[in-house]
Amino acid sequence: MRDTAPAMNDQNSTSSESTWRCTVCGFLHRGERPPRGCPRCGSPTPEFLPAGERTWLTYDGEPFDVLLVNGSTHRAHNTSYMVDIAERELESRGVSYRRFNLSEYTIDHCWCCYSVKAEYCTYPCRNSQDDMPAFHQMLATAKAVIVASPINWNNMSARLKDFLDRTTCMQNLFHLDRPGLTDGKVIGILISGHEDGAIKTALDISLVFEQMGYILAPFGIAFRTHGSQYNSGTDAEFFRNDEMIKNDVRGVVSNVVELMLLDLESRLKGRLVPVSE
Ligand SMILES: Cc1cc2nc3c(=O)[nH]c(=O)nc-3n(C[C@H](O)[C@H](O)[C@H](O)COP(=O)(O)O)c2cc1C
Repeated sequence: MRDTAPAMNDQNSTSSESTWRCTVCGFLHRGERPPRGCPRCGSPTPEFLPAGERTWLTYDGEPFDVLLVNGSTHRAHNTSYMVDIAERELESRGVSYRRFNLSEYTIDHCWCCYSVKAEYCTYPCRNSQDDMPAFHQMLATAKAVIVASPINWNNMSARLKDFLDRTTCMQNLFHLDRPGLTDGKVIGILISGHEDGAIKTALDISLVFEQMGYILAPFGIAFRTHGSQYNSGTDAEFFRNDEMIKNDVRGVVSNVVELMLLDLESRLKGRLVPVSE
């Protein structure tokens, strides 16, 4: 988690208090509990997490089926709600998964070594000083990815864009005539927004995965927007009372799982011709 220049209300602290960090803006709060909303960025209380020291994310090597990624700036808001539904569906189907909210992790911009020379973009990635190497390993392990993004200016979130830019070293394996690590895996996409741009956002995301050899599940995109005529502050309540979101997210999860169970990844191993732009 990035340490932004913190503001801290540390007067009158007692030993039972601990430090809480807003995962959105980095505001630090000392107290027994996180504050009622972030005084700096206005995010709701669930965006706060204990502010302990953390080391880079590591992957323990245990196989699992689905990597579930919440690409929102908010770990617990509208996009997260869709991911919560997906999580419950995976649980009910007995599918092993791991969920990550990108706002809780440090993922640097891509250094774009590829732009200098294709051979410079190596796997593992040259940047091992953040959480991305563990995500690379999990992408190579999981049979499917379900990724969720808010719409930001008719596109994916900047956090998710950084995450996807950092998969260039996996996509570049094909350019370097090395065996791919992701071909034949399955992708499903969840999009939350306020007014418009969901399909474009979903297709932008799907194109990146397509270039890594992923297969978009049939009916593999779920999206929901509320409407520009409403204040965005009413979106959360709308989302949580909307049956369509629940049904569509469950549907995407189910379709991802059904395709995953066909194990096309094994059946296509060595049979695909990598074609890229
Ligand atoms: C920078 C920014 C740009 C946005 N652009 C769009 C947009 O183009 N289309 C849209 O429907 N919603 C847009 N929104 C609204 C978000 O998609 C919406 O609030 C979403 O619920 C945010 O997800 P979260 O609650 O997980 O943060 C934008 C929000 C922000 C902050």
